[in-house]
Amino acid sequence: MFTAQETLNQIAAEVSNCENCELHKTRNKSVPGIGPADAEIMLIGEGPGFNENEQGLPFVGQAGKFLGELLAQAGLKREDVWICNVVKCRSPDNRDPLPDELAACDLYLERQIRALNPSIIITLGRFSMNKFMPGAKISAVHGQMRQVGSRFVIAMFHPAAALHQPQLKSTILADFAKLPQLLAVARQELGKFCGAPAVAAQREEDPQQMKLF
Ligand code: URA
Ligand code: SF4
Repeated sequence: MFTAQETLNQIAAEVSNCENCELHKTRNKSVPGIGPADAEIMLIGEGPGFNENEQGLPFVGQAGKFLGELLAQAGLKREDVWICNVVKCRSPDNRDPLPDELAACDLYLERQIRALNPSIIITLGRFSMNKFMPGAKISAVHGQMRQVGSRFVIAMFHPAAALHQPQLKSTILADFAKLPQLLAVARQELGKFCGAPAVAAQREEDPQQMKLF
C-alpha cells in the first residue's frame, strides 16, 4: 500500500521520462505538477508554457503570477493547493493540445486525481473543463460549481486568457472572489455524504443528477 505522496512521486518519475506522445520530442522538461499530497483542492490547467518547460514546474510564468493573485484574493495560498495540467509537456509554439496527446496524458491525470482524492477540482480553461463537463461552454459555465461524482468541480477561465483579453480580467477576478463561498458549499455538501460511500458511488454513475451551485 503506497501513500498518496509515494504514488504522486511515482507518477512524477514516470512523467519525467515519458515518451507516450509526440510532445516528448520537443519538450525540455515535462511538468508533472506540484503541491501537498493532502491538498483539498486540485487546480488543472492546460499545458506547460515556455517558463514551465524550462523549470519543470507548473504556472511559474505570467499566468502563474496572476493565478497566485487570484488565489490570494480567495484567501488561498498556492502552496496549499495541488497544481497541474491536462498535458504535462509543452506543445511546440504553445498550440492547443491534440486529442491523442490529451488521451495519452489523461492516464497520468487520472492517477493523480485518484492518489490525491481532492474534494474540489478547479479547472482552468476549456481543456480541463471538457474533461469534467463535456460539451459545456466556458462562456456559460465559468464561475459555476457542479457536483461530479463524489467531488465538486469549479470551471474557471484560464488566467492566461484573462491576461490577453482585458474584458475577461474583471470576470475572472469576480469568479475567484466567489471561491470562498463555493468552497463553503462544497465542504458542507461533502460533509453530508461523508461515511456514505454508496451514495457517492451512485452519484458518480448518474451525471444527470449533477447539481449546480
Ligand atoms: N498555462 C497552463 O495552462 N499551465 C501552466 O503550467 C502554465 C501556463
Ligand atoms: Fe507523456 Fe504526457 Fe508528455 Fe505526452 S504530454 S510525452 S503523454 S507526459
